[in-house]
Amino acid sequence: MEASAHCACVSSRPCTNDLGESSPCPKPARLWTPTVYSSFAKESFCYAGSPITIQESIEDYGAVVWPAALALSQYLEDNQEEFELRDRRVLEIGAGTGLVSIVASILGAYVTATDLPDILGNLRFNLSRNTQGRNLHQPQVRELMWGENLEQNFPRSSCLYDYILAADVVYYHTFLDPLLTTMKYLCQPGTVLLWANKFRFNTDFEFLEKFRRTFDTTLLAEFPGLEIKLFKATAKVE
Ligand SMILES: C[S@@+](CC[C@H](N)C(=O)[O-])C[C@H]1O[C@@H](n2cnc3c(N)ncnc32)[C@H](O)[C@@H]1O
Repeated sequence: MEASAHCACVSSRPCTNDLGESSPCPKPARLWTPTVYSSFAKESFCYAGSPITIQESIEDYGAVVWPAALALSQYLEDNQEEFELRDRRVLEIGAGTGLVSIVASILGAYVTATDLPDILGNLRFNLSRNTQGRNLHQPQVRELMWGENLEQNFPRSSCLYDYILAADVVYYHTFLDPLLTTMKYLCQPGTVLLWANKFRFNTDFEFLEKFRRTFDTTLLAEFPGLEIKLFKATAKVE
């Protein structure tokens, strides 16, 4: 599948972010109002000193805020000295409604929020409404399907990230191997992967075993009662 790289703006001009990455916007204004969903709700949060309103829908996994997104957002807010995001390049996989990417953007990062094609309209809408006037760098929204065309769409030479963020990307689905492949692909030497997840199923723990074999990992935090764990991972030196 061909990647569509849209930036979070209404312009129909090709856009370039602060890093010089080209980001054409072939479907500009239309994508600003989500068309995929028919029933919406709003959730309000406050992170990094900013009120954040997230548009949700019950129609897709990626259209509601999941518990690990709250945990990771809170952790990023509370640990800004250890995980300084200002001017850092951050990519979120499975960004869903965009809460974590919004927090990273408000904290000053160059953010690229990614997900499946159908999710991007709502993701772009939430990122735009919550970061305009509050970001140092305009966040980007891009399609990234786990395991698909990674080298073509995110060449390692130019797509080098300081942080990869992932919240509740592990649950009962059939893309766990492509997900791990994607994490490994994006996690270059120097990249820190922060993965928060609620552990529900045996398959979640099986993924965790593979994750630990793939990366050098540290359990950064546990959220008692919520069964959420937050891991830091870096590429293993081979
Ligand atoms: C459980 S939701 C979590 C959303 C968000 N991170 C949060 O915590 O609120 C999982 C996300 O992964 C995305 N996803 C699922 N399968 C995917 C795939 N094969 N490639 C890319 N993204 C995928 C979904 O669209 C969804 O946004």
